[in-house]
Amino acid sequence: CGIIGIVGVRPVAPLLVDALKRLEYRGYDSAGVATLEDGALDRRRAEGKLVNLEKRLIAEPLEGTIGIGHTRWATHGAPTERNAHPHATEKLAVVHNGIIENFAELRSALEADGYLFQTDTDTEAVAQLLTRELDRGRTPVEAVRESLPLLRGAFALAILFTGEDDLLIGARRGSPLAIGYGDGEMFLGSDAIALAPFTDTVTYLDDGDWAVLTRNSATIYDEKGTVVSRAIQKSTGTALLVNKGNHRHFMEKEIHEQPEVISHTLAHYLDFTSGKTRAESVPVDFSKIDRLAISACGTAFYAASIGKYWFEQIARLPVDLDIASEFRYREMPLSKDSLALFVSQSGETADTLASLRYCRSQGLNISSIVNVKESTIARESNVVFPTLAGPEIGVASTKAFTCQLSVLASLAIAAGKDRGTIDAGEEQRLVRHLSEVPRFANEVLHLSPQIEAVCRELMQVKHVLYLGRGTSFPLAMEGALKLKEISYIHAEGYAAGELKHGPIALIDETMPVIVIAPHDRLYEKTVSNMQEVAARGGRIILITDAKGAADANVKTLDTIVLPDMPEIIAPLIYALPVQMLAYYTAVFMGTDVDQPRNLAKSVTVE
Ligand code: G6P
Repeated sequence: CGIIGIVGVRPVAPLLVDALKRLEYRGYDSAGVATLEDGALDRRRAEGKLVNLEKRLIAEPLEGTIGIGHTRWATHGAPTERNAHPHATEKLAVVHNGIIENFAELRSALEADGYLFQTDTDTEAVAQLLTRELDRGRTPVEAVRESLPLLRGAFALAILFTGEDDLLIGARRGSPLAIGYGDGEMFLGSDAIALAPFTDTVTYLDDGDWAVLTRNSATIYDEKGTVVSRAIQKSTGTALLVNKGNHRHFMEKEIHEQPEVISHTLAHYLDFTSGKTRAESVPVDFSKIDRLAISACGTAFYAASIGKYWFEQIARLPVDLDIASEFRYREMPLSKDSLALFVSQSGETADTLASLRYCRSQGLNISSIVNVKESTIARESNVVFPTLAGPEIGVASTKAFTCQLSVLASLAIAAGKDRGTIDAGEEQRLVRHLSEVPRFANEVLHLSPQIEAVCRELMQVKHVLYLGRGTSFPLAMEGALKLKEISYIHAEGYAAGELKHGPIALIDETMPVIVIAPHDRLYEKTVSNMQEVAARGGRIILITDAKGAADANVKTLDTIVLPDMPEIIAPLIYALPVQMLAYYTAVFMGTDVDQPRNLAKSVTVE
């Protein structure tokens, strides 16, 4: 979703709509604006594209000089006008991007206190929560301060209050939000592109920040409620389109965008209110398919490798998986009851495209998971499953990878339902688990100081081994690929159980072994493999959760402890420390992180 807020000097409705046009790429299920006129709230909302809202505003204009606007990508509740943002009570209006995970609990508590809900959205829980604080006699700023800690999830908010003609409050946790500085006007926006026509002077809020804006001031608070100052930046011309924000590299920016873009991608496939997959986003009947034939290259191949575990476990659907450059010459016998699936960020990779064309010549139904909607692979597919990662500039893929995983997990659930291998209850449970990914991802990003410390060790070595079992095995290979790509340190990813069949010969006191091991069914097996490493003097860096750390029972060089989480989402979350290990190591070594030597973002040759 896209958010805009203006506390200004001219009627804001046309400006809000103008900004929403630039945010439309973030969703267009419905749109809405709210303004304050002489302290009174009024709003206009419309289903579908922005033109519908524009028509509504021509028929029934809004006059206020302070307002908020939203363009929606539905996560909770159908994309109807009733569920469109802004959500309002008598006392305030709010627009929201992201997921409020605990909305159901909040809603029942608020309903018990007599607050009546009008919509199915998670956002309304925020509106009612703030209203309760105001009813208790708190000021708007106090209400926000009290309410934010009660919200679980990754989100951004902009809020207007009845009777407060010179007050706009914004908050960010996980989803981006920027402040724009004008002349006697202040702005809030999901990105600098939305703010571009109004101002080129912006501040990107840090995670956990919230900001109180008036026409002439901006006060920024951090998560603890302490007033903080954040850098003011100038954004110009094309830099706006591909802006690094506060980040040193696109790769760092893209790593940090993951809570947000994963939430967009998941919301396209899953309805978090009903706990169901969205049939309209998955126009395939998996009960009519015998096998899936997946091909991809590089990072997309490792995403597909994790997907294979999910399709086979959740949907009992056999998967043939190939590296595209092998598949295209393998002359594999294909059955017409197979669905061909191609995974590609760019949608232009030559080997993947050639594999697609081979499958087409064999009469297969062609589907693809792609990030670039206009790409050749997308155009040549019968069914396209988009990843909503936004442009990925860093050559080493990060956010496209976790978005590919988001799609694959959603498809596996849809397939399980079609094939009757999971019931509605299990579907709901899995969907709920996936809704927690943005929050966990955001939490894990805060581990960067510890990960940086590990990278100071890694930068000194020549070889690194990554180990994992189950879905952590492809992730180990992805980790090794990331490290090779950008730091030029030799790395290999291995199935932990395969260690004893060869690579164990490499173990000595100089080679770090990075073990990816959430405390799942396979954990104990991985611990045995770690012990084999420890017994030979190997230096172990363990990435696990609290339970895993407690049960590890081996001496590690370092243990990176992630939150405990449901098994299905572990690959999506464990991907982040794996990416961060490669990123900081490369930064310390001074390589060209965004454009490492010899590589290209999109390889259109064989
Ligand atoms: C190149 C990139 C990799 C990417 C691979 C597949 O090698 O450097 O990061 O994973 O191509 O690209 P695709 O666009 O098909 O996902």
